[in-house]
Parts: sequence; structure tokens; C-alpha cells
Amino acid sequence: MKTKILVTGGTGYIGSHTVVELQNAGYEVVIIDNLSNSNAAVIDGIEAITGIRPVFVEGDCTDINTLHELFKANPGIKGIINFAASKAVGESVQKPLLYYRNNLNTLMNLLDLMPEYGVKGIVFSSSCTVYGEPDVNPIDETAPIKPATSPYGNTKQVCEEIIEDYIRSGAPIKSILLRYFNPIGAHPSAEIGELPLGVPQNLVPYLTQTAAGIRKELTVFGDDYNTPDGSCIRDYIDVVDLAKAHVIAMKRMLDGEDTDAVEIFNLGTGRGLSVLELIASFERATGVKVPHKIGPRRAGDIEKIWADPKKANEVLGWTASVPVDETMKNAWAWQCKVSKH
Ligand code: NAD
Ligand code: UFG
Repeated sequence: MKTKILVTGGTGYIGSHTVVELQNAGYEVVIIDNLSNSNAAVIDGIEAITGIRPVFVEGDCTDINTLHELFKANPGIKGIINFAASKAVGESVQKPLLYYRNNLNTLMNLLDLMPEYGVKGIVFSSSCTVYGEPDVNPIDETAPIKPATSPYGNTKQVCEEIIEDYIRSGAPIKSILLRYFNPIGAHPSAEIGELPLGVPQNLVPYLTQTAAGIRKELTVFGDDYNTPDGSCIRDYIDVVDLAKAHVIAMKRMLDGEDTDAVEIFNLGTGRGLSVLELIASFERATGVKVPHKIGPRRAGDIEKIWADPKKANEVLGWTASVPVDETMKNAWAWQCKVSKH
């Protein structure tokens, strides 16, 4: 019998790619999503890739009764991957209560119900944002957590602590906290990808929309940083590589007998790329020019951060493998498909 996994936020960007990889690996998936930042048509894309239509519950994880009903209607769920969260840094500064309410209540409801319904483990979507501006790069999991610079970032820190406290209190569950660096790209089939609502705030969707002529020009936020070309440096990780790490983490959490109750992994490539280098990669991979100009720095941006992924490489046996030019090609194929609609 297939192991049943609940994926919250499973019609979202990273969630949908992870559902594909879970199904490809033989897991049975139940999705819950309130469609606050995604579209139910994503399920068709998942089915087109895998040939399997996951169970989809349209519902809100902050409503505990909805979750009770879900667990009763889908007995035997063994693991949860919790993607469901609000994630726009700028919006979180404007609407902090929305972010605290959604991100914390979603997690606490899930944790609360896990023992009652026999769920053994939860994988949590955390972020390298918990490290703030690193003192050294690459950064590993033992680096200090810095004070959060936004309510969104704070929800990630507090959620990590909530999980640790709950397990320390004796709750009969395990957890793996995955600290993502910068997820980008789309499934190579172009059946699923990132669907930002309104004007994108993140680099790659803004870049692909500019290349498609939807935006006039990409602004590079600052070229006076202390980096080789003056633009900020990030560790951009392909979303399919990232999705695969979740499948490995789930297997380890559910099947590993001697693993710690809480484990933390950085998920990145180990390689830092500047904004200008990423633009160059896109142009090289697609042959399409990206009109861009240098603008002022964006408030709150970190100068440079990239992962030391050694722990994930060695303990999970996972390594990011998709070359960045390939990732940019996939991002472009997805943009071209979306632009046609
Ligand atoms: P996304 O917005 O595409 O996906 C999140 C999904 O959760 C959406 O489909 C949304 O409709 C759903 N959702 C939100 N609140 C919900 C609720 N209360 N009940 C049910 N569904 C709910 O975002 P994503 O980029 O796929 O991110 C997934 C997770 O990874 C988030 O927790 C995010 O904070 C984290 N993360 C993302 C990044 C990134 O750069 N994309 C980086 C680090 C961490
Ligand atoms: N950038 C531009 N122009 C743009 C958009 C972004 O130059 O139009 C630059 C930014 O200044 C930054 C880099 O591109 O140097 C990446 O910016 P993103 O907004 O794509 O990503 P961030 O690193 O700022 O933050 C993202 C998510 C956070 C998450 C963090 C770490 O938005 O939620 O990665 O995972 F916490």
C-alpha cells in the first residue's frame, strides 16, 4: 500500500512540484489549499505530468474543523509537508497580523492534530532568511539565527521554535526543517511553474515577464554592494531539485529509526550568483535579451548569502543537480506558456 502524505499549500509553487515528485516516488498525496495564492487548474498540470490526480481539498488550514474533516475523510496519513503560508515579505510589513495568524495557526493546528490521527512526521518549509546577513559564506546550519527583518521572516523563526518546543514537550512526532535558499524555475514539461499574482516582487518572475514584454524593464536593485560586480548574491536553487529533497526528507523522517526527532537542513546549491550573472545566464540559455537598468538598492536586502549544503549532501544524500542555464530555460518555457493565455 502506498504511504499517504498530506501536502498543505500543494497547489502553490514549490508544493505543486513536490506533489509531482512524491507521486513519481510512489507516495499517495492529499492536498489542502485555500487557493489564496494559487489556482485549482494546477491539479490538471500535476495530472498531466504524473498521470495521477491527487486528492484535492479546497480548505483553510487555520480552520481546525476543516482539518478534522480532512483527516477523517482520508484516514492513514503518515506525513505532512507544510507549505501553506503567506510569503510576501513586503506585505508582511503592512499586514503583520495576517502573517502571524496564517502562518502560526496553520502550523499549530497541524501539530495539534498529528498525534490524534497517527501522523508521524512533518516537513516544514523554512528559509535562509532566518540567518539574516551572514557573517561568513557559505553558511551552514550551525550559524546563528539573526533578528528577523520582517514579520514574514519572524514567522519562519517562530515556527521553527514552535516545532522544537512541541517535540521537546514529548509530542510523539518527528520533524525536518528545510531552510530553502532562492527557489527558481519551473517543471521542464512547462505544465507547472510559478504564478505570481500582480507585479512580481521576486527576481526571476520579473525577469521572465520583462523578457516576454509584459514589463518594460527590469531594475537591478543596486550595483554598489561589496561583491565582484556590485549586485547582490544569492544561492538560486532549481525548484525540481528542491522538490526532490522533500521526498528524501519524508522517507528519512518516516523510515529512519535512529534519526533525531528534529533535523535541520540547508537546501541550496552551494554556489552564489549575482543578479547580473543570473540575467546573463538567462540571456545565454534562451538567446532572449532582458532590458534592464541599474536602480537604487531595495530596502532590507541582504548583500550576499549562499548555502553550505554539505549536511544535506552527506546526510540526505541529496545534491542540487540542474545547471542554472537549464533552470532559466525552464523558467522561460513556462513564461511563454503562461503568456499565451
Ligand atoms: P505559494 O504561495 O506559491 O504556495 C503556498 C500555498 O499555500 C498557496 O497555494 C496558498 O494558496 C496556500 N495557502 C496559504 N495559506 C493557506 C492556508 N491557511 N490554508 C491552505 N492553504 C494556504 O508559495 P511557495 O513559494 O510555494 O512557498 C511555499 C512555502 O515555502 C511557504 O511556506 C514559503 O514561506 C516557503 N518558502 C518559499 C520561498 C520562495 O522563495 N518561494 C523561500 C523560502 C521559503
Ligand atoms: N532583485 C532585483 N530586481 C528585482 C527583483 C529582485 O534586482 O526586480 C534582486 C534583489 O535585490 C535580490 C535578488 O534579486 O538581490 C533576489 O531577490 P528576490 O526578491 O527574488 O529574493 P530574496 O532573496 O529577496 O528573497 C527570497 C524570498 C524570501 C525568502 C528568501 C530566502 O522572497 O521570501 O528568498 O529564501 F525568505
